[in-house]
Amino acid sequence: MGTYVIGITGASGAPYARQVLRGLLEREHHVKLIVSPAGERVVAIELGLQMKGSRAARQEQWIDYLAVGKGSLELLPHKDFAASISSGSYPFDGMAVVPCSMGTVGRIAHGLSTNLIERAADVALKEKRRLVIVPRETPLNLIHLRNMTALVEAGAEILPAMPGFYHLPKSVDDLVNSVAGRVLERLGVENDLFKKWRGDPLAQFAQVDE
Ligand SMILES: Cc1cc2nc3c(=O)[nH]c(=O)nc-3n(C[C@H](O)[C@H](O)[C@H](O)COP(=O)(O)O)c2cc1C
Repeated sequence: MGTYVIGITGASGAPYARQVLRGLLEREHHVKLIVSPAGERVVAIELGLQMKGSRAARQEQWIDYLAVGKGSLELLPHKDFAASISSGSYPFDGMAVVPCSMGTVGRIAHGLSTNLIERAADVALKEKRRLVIVPRETPLNLIHLRNMTALVEAGAEILPAMPGFYHLPKSVDDLVNSVAGRVLERLGVENDLFKKWRGDPLAQFAQVDE
């Protein structure tokens, strides 16, 4: 099974991270998870998950919360630059930063590597591994747009937290899963979180210019 790095930062959208993590564990992958301090604040607000205690205790909290019972999850300290994934010599299959704040977008785009999320992303880019960035902000200013352009130029994929409505979602979970499923797909992980478009169900009634 593969090893995937997931960074959770302090942008809104923690439910996307939850579903990506569950999708990876369901497929029995190993996850190396890093959560920024701001990410922990948003996780507490949006998932009701208040992280407490040592790293080992927090890791157990995540594992209990995700409740998948397959795969494995290791929570890495946010500033541990000596962690395995800080070196290009440690192989991992891909990384997603989900959700990704504009602060982290900017710092990865400029190679700052001030914490393990940014360093692992820097490693992914230099080693030409998959790096999926799931930015969340609205509206976007020119700095955000330029930083995202720089990330694409460096080899990252920008997969905005922008759920579509043409699949006729019936719940918030459907909307969350449509984004999480695309993230997993871009990491090369099979999943059935989102429906593949099979053409317009109303096509027989539509007037389409031939
Ligand atoms: C509840 C909450 C929601 C936030 N939502 C966003 C957001 O959607 N996008 C964003 O760029 N920053 C957002 N922020 C601000 C970031 O958390 C802040 O810029 C932080 O410094 C990001 O740090 P990090 O990238 O290390 O996690 C939010 C903060 C809070 C507390």
